[in-house]
Amino acid sequence: MTKVITTGNFKGGVGKTTNAVMFSYTLSKMGKRVLIVDLDPQANATDLLLNTMSSVYQQKPVFKETLFESIKSKKLSGALISIKDNLDLLPSYEDLQGYEKFLYSNFEDDYSQDHYFNTLLEPIKKDYDYIIMDVPPQLNKFTDSALVSSNYVVVILQTQERALKGAEKYIEHLLQLQDDYNLDLDLLGVLPVLQQNGSDLDLDIITDAINSFGEQNIFKSRIKQMARLKRFDRTGITDNVKDINDRRVHDVYKKVVNELIERMNLIEMEGKE
Ligand SMILES: Nc1ncnc2c1ncn2[C@@H]1O[C@H](COP(=O)(O)OP(=O)(O)OP(=O)(O)O)[C@@H](O)[C@H]1O
Ligand SMILES: [Mg+2]
Repeated sequence: MTKVITTGNFKGGVGKTTNAVMFSYTLSKMGKRVLIVDLDPQANATDLLLNTMSSVYQQKPVFKETLFESIKSKKLSGALISIKDNLDLLPSYEDLQGYEKFLYSNFEDDYSQDHYFNTLLEPIKKDYDYIIMDVPPQLNKFTDSALVSSNYVVVILQTQERALKGAEKYIEHLLQLQDDYNLDLDLLGVLPVLQQNGSDLDLDIITDAINSFGEQNIFKSRIKQMARLKRFDRTGITDNVKDINDRRVHDVYKKVVNELIERMNLIEMEGKE
C-alpha cells in the first residue's frame, strides 16, 4: 500500500524541504516508486529537482502545467514530471499562492477544503510506493491538505529553541486534526537536524525533545550540518561515489531512510496486534 509522508515543523527554514527531497531521492535509489509533491508556492523542492535534472542529468525539464493548474483542472497527472528513474515530481510555481483562495471560494466548510487535495491524489496513489509532501512552514491550508492526505509525519527538529516550539505546536496541531477528522495519521518520529557538531545547546534541545515527545519518538539517526547538502541548492543533487562529500551525504540519508522504513514497519505491526 502507498505510504504518504509529510515533513513538517511550523518554524521556517529548519530543513523540511531538504529532507523531503533527500528522502524521495534516497527511496527512489532503493528501487521504490516515489512521487514528491511540492505543495509550497516558494517552489524550493521543484527548483532543487529541476536543477538536478538540468545540471546533473543534462536533461531539459518539460514543465507541462503547474501543480495549481492541475489542481484546478482536477487532474494531478497532467502536471507530473519524471525527474529520474522511480522519481516523479508535482511541481510548484508561484501561481500556487492562489491555492487557499481557490479552496475558500469553491468549498464552504473546513472539512471539504482540507480533503479536496486528497481526493485528487487518490487516483494516482497506486502508481507509487511512497508519496512525500513538502509544505510551507505556517499553519494554513497547504499544511492541512498535506496532513489529511498523509499516513505519516516526520517532524524536522533543527536543534534551536524556536524549532522545538515549532515542533511542539506542529504535533499538537496534527493530533487535533487527527481527532477532528478521524485520520489514519501517525507521527513517524522527530528527526534531529543538528546545528553544530557536538554543541551543548544541541544536546540540551535533544534532551528537551526527549522529555517532551518521549524517547521512542525521536529518530536515532541524526542529520549533521553538511556544507555539501547546502551546495546541492546550487549544483543540484550530485551523487559521485568517488567524491567523499557526496558519499557522506548519501550514506547519512541511507541510514535515515532505513530507520524511516523500520519505524513504519513497527507502527504497522503494532496496528495489527
Ligand atoms: N543538514 C544541513 N546542513 C547544511 N545545510 C542544510 C542542512 N539542512 C538544510 N540546510 C540548508 O538550510 C536552508 C533551509 O533548508 P530548507 O529550505 O530545507 O528549510 P525549510 O524548512 O524547507 O524552509 P521553509 O520553511 O522556508 O520551507 C537551505 O539553504 C538548505 O540547503
Ligand atoms: Mg521548504
